[in-house]
Amino acid sequence: MSAFEAEQSVPRFAHGSRVPGWDDAVDVNKDPASIPDPATTAVPDDLRAEIEEHMSRYPDRRSAAIPALRAAQRRHGWCSPQAIDQVASVMRVTPGYLASIATFYDMTENEPRPDHHDVFVCTNISCSLLGAPDVFAAFQEVASDEDRIHVRSFECLGACDIAPMASVDGVYVGPLEPRDAQTVVDDIKAGRPVLEDRQLARRPVADEEARGA
Ligand code: FES
Repeated sequence: MSAFEAEQSVPRFAHGSRVPGWDDAVDVNKDPASIPDPATTAVPDDLRAEIEEHMSRYPDRRSAAIPALRAAQRRHGWCSPQAIDQVASVMRVTPGYLASIATFYDMTENEPRPDHHDVFVCTNISCSLLGAPDVFAAFQEVASDEDRIHVRSFECLGACDIAPMASVDGVYVGPLEPRDAQTVVDDIKAGRPVLEDRQLARRPVADEEARGA
């Protein structure tokens, strides 16, 4: 398919954009968005504690939006309206503010995706120079019949020092070779930690226990 044909095949709305409603006029009579009332918004204690802990790390609490949404997503499976309301209530921001973030970033889910595993293979420059295309192809092949394992390529995941690398349900592993794809899939299916000896978090520099600290 040529670039022109590919461009023509992208579904578009009548106004030519791929985004619905971007040119709809603002409803100036609509009530302003409000922050969910903490008195009537039930938030699980452990989720509240985690969100508050994230907020405590930043001078501006809004900087905790992404980790707070990720915490709610882990609990609810996705950034459901209820999850967003709970985060908004604790952070004292509007649900709309959080929804604008949740719909922008790749790692926040805006619809239910039950019981699945995400494998993000970094194919950005550092990883690509060290063989990421072959690693990605191997993952695609090995997981092709696995409905619960979703493989996709990703831009730089910020762990170039272990390139080529991947994030498996948020766990960074690398450096990878194509043959590691089968091991990762086997580990996921068995419920084991993935490539335990090559997890970024278990490197001596990151792991106090391994460092002997
Ligand atoms: S290029 Fe792959 S982690 Fe940065």
